[in-house]
Amino acid sequence: MNRPLHDAVEVILAKRDGLELSDSQIDWVVDAYTRGEVADEQMSALAMAILLNGMERHEITRWTAAMIASGERMDFSSLSRPTADKHSTGGVGDKITLPLAPLVAACGVAVPQLSGRGLGHTGGTLDKLESIPGWRAALTNDEMMAQLESVGAVICAAGDGLAPADKKLYALRDVTGTVEAIPLIASSIMSKKIAEGTGALVLDVKVGSGAFMKDVTRARELAEVMVALGTDAGVRTTALLTDMSVPLGLTAGNAIEVAESVEVLAGGGPADVVELTVALAREMLAGAGRDDVDPADKLADGSAMDVWKAMVRAQDGDPDAALPVARESHVVIAPISGVLTRLDAMAVGLAAWRLGAGRARKEDPVQAGAGVVWHARPGDAVTAGSPLFTLLTDEPARFDRALASLDGGWEIGPDAPVASPLVIDRVG
Ligand code: URA
Repeated sequence: MNRPLHDAVEVILAKRDGLELSDSQIDWVVDAYTRGEVADEQMSALAMAILLNGMERHEITRWTAAMIASGERMDFSSLSRPTADKHSTGGVGDKITLPLAPLVAACGVAVPQLSGRGLGHTGGTLDKLESIPGWRAALTNDEMMAQLESVGAVICAAGDGLAPADKKLYALRDVTGTVEAIPLIASSIMSKKIAEGTGALVLDVKVGSGAFMKDVTRARELAEVMVALGTDAGVRTTALLTDMSVPLGLTAGNAIEVAESVEVLAGGGPADVVELTVALAREMLAGAGRDDVDPADKLADGSAMDVWKAMVRAQDGDPDAALPVARESHVVIAPISGVLTRLDAMAVGLAAWRLGAGRARKEDPVQAGAGVVWHARPGDAVTAGSPLFTLLTDEPARFDRALASLDGGWEIGPDAPVASPLVIDRVG
């Protein structure tokens, strides 16, 4: 038997001491970890050393390539239309993928969107779609290709074959305090998106209390690293930095976010959700070479709604069926009249999670009907005695903890707050 090229302790010591890892060390450690030759405790130590000491750009590029090489790569080049995808770093009330995928498909660009389930206070796209009666997340690669050709948009679960190194490493980072390392976040997201085989990609990098990245400097750094990784891999990649200090729209949950997305597809819905959907659609269309089409027209003329219905039906869902409704509700009343001056994304996200819309461990179930509806956004006038929030759950014992997380998460004052832009910056 040949002796291994490296050993785990040597690689850990190098990063612990602030050295750059060689290409060969990176290729070896990612591969050996995926095969189980490097133990979890060794990879945890390495992840912590990376978090503390960082990585140079070329190390991140190599690490990403090694994660891609750990699994299969999809190829959509035989499709009759160009492809574009979007990735959001995760936010509260972030249902944008739901109206966005059919909207972009209605503009002539195919959208292969491999999504995940929610963990913690941010919701997962698959959890939301699974509240539609009959809808199924698991598709074979052949089913995905056929749906992309016939409907133009697919939102489905990423198979186990895509970047398996990331699957293992992400679960480990989650329990070892090593999620927030920019090299590890960037390589995790981009390895999956590059392996997925999309031609163009727009990244929605969230900034604010409800996001991973609380400040704009770190969000910009993450966006720049990811855009460089995508571009170097031949994927036309841009990023928008968008505000996540306030939750998006008026709902956070599963079925209630689907209902809000359908309102957007019907030409209505909250202004911020429409604005971000259209802004991201424009980026995706530009990346795919179709900036001659205006996505706002496709929302207005109903063609995005037609694609949505076809997309849901193709995955055995009934787009016209009634959505599940929570068994219990609790209304929080505005104590005084004035203007809502603050609504904190993290407080709302935690409340929705505690009501049962999200999960604490990845094997937990979620409640389809649970969540939070807020009846005003910052800047809106509120009247004493009128509803401010409606909390929804199947289990009333959850109300107390959800109410506790909303405590201090909102304010009513005499004057409107200074409006902050939803799209903060663009990278790429
Ligand atoms: N999403 C991912 O897929 N990976 C990360 O590391 C963080 C967010």
